Amino acid sequence: MSSTSPAPLDSSPYLLAARGERPPHTPVWFMRQAGRALPEYRAAREGTTMLESCMRPDLVVEITLQPVRRYGVDAAIYFSDIVAPLKFAGYDVEIKPGVGPVVADPIRDAAGVAAVRPVTPSDVPYTTESVQQLVSELGGTPLIGFAGAPFTVASYLVEGGPSKDFAKTKAMMHGNPELWHALADRLADVAIAYLSVQVEAGASAIQLFDSWAGGLSPRDYERFVQPHSAKVFDAIASYGVPRVHFGVNTGELLGLMSAAGADVVGVDWRVPLDEAVRRITAAGAGPKPVQGNLDPALLFAGWDAIEPEIDRILEEGKAAPGHIFNLGHGVPPDADPEVLARVAKYVRSKSTARPVVGAE
Ligand code: CP3
Repeated sequence: MSSTSPAPLDSSPYLLAARGERPPHTPVWFMRQAGRALPEYRAAREGTTMLESCMRPDLVVEITLQPVRRYGVDAAIYFSDIVAPLKFAGYDVEIKPGVGPVVADPIRDAAGVAAVRPVTPSDVPYTTESVQQLVSELGGTPLIGFAGAPFTVASYLVEGGPSKDFAKTKAMMHGNPELWHALADRLADVAIAYLSVQVEAGASAIQLFDSWAGGLSPRDYERFVQPHSAKVFDAIASYGVPRVHFGVNTGELLGLMSAAGADVVGVDWRVPLDEAVRRITAAGAGPKPVQGNLDPALLFAGWDAIEPEIDRILEEGKAAPGHIFNLGHGVPPDADPEVLARVAKYVRSKSTARPVVGAE
């Protein structure tokens, strides 16, 4: 990370794989790698709320770098949250420890939608400062910028907090489509603004999290969600950075999520990567690089169970033009950092060089 001659970012394994190439080793990072599984994270955060800490460049930089130091991962992810830009723009949202984002006044009508105002770069000076500082400290390790996709962020604003069935969100989609589309369009603009600030400050790739999209049928996804996520991907396209799209339980949606405009498709543990590549290709938008997909529950199963799973995933990942190893969802708060470090080391120790020299 602080070597005297850092590898150029463009030849970093993460960016090569994201662009559909085969680097010397399969790159690995972990969704939610910065967070409560690390004692140094808990120490850094003590006495500061989650969203306050996102406004402090000293904390953002330290917390973003912690997993890079600890795990030796191939990418850092900017420390923030999917609801952070709303908060920065003055929206009344909090993150309740152990619960997630909560809003006091859930959105029910046009006045509620109007309260979601666009984010401007002047709302987020600390984002620019944190990203610039991180990029200089990270050297040859890419920084991933991120935002929440319109559906997943809307689900918190409409439900008032986390939900299992998204009943109020779906009721709005079907019962008042105009209101739904107005809200999702505003949230697309929020994501575009937040991602743009991160990329302009130096982030090398972006990931759009639509974590809860798997709660929707393909039909509803295509009608109510895909156009808004596509707007985000389109707006970011001109930056030329890889755009990753991820959601949980999205086996039935992989083709549609890919077609929304992702360059790399994140896959949870339910669908093997080679099957995911088939689904993405069948949708007419692939094949594309994939990211995933070790079941986070396996982190608790002991190394003898983990190692063959990693081998299987690396093998299945060869079906894609590029493979970024990750968990199928975020690091659980009670995961053992030693196990994560071992996973990263093991993945990096496996060569993925293909025997086909000169093939395109
Ligand atoms: O990945 C990283 O390490 C970067 C940081 C990051 C956070 N949230 C920090 C965070 C990222 C990428 C996110 C994205 C996010 N936030 C998603 C998409 C990814 C996913 O997991 O599906 C979602 C759905 C959210 C909403 C959210 N924010 C949830 C569900 C929670 C957890 C609630 C809890 O405490 O169990 C949060 C809070 C949050 N975001 C924490 C962190 C480190 C925990 C806050 C704390 O430490 O008290």
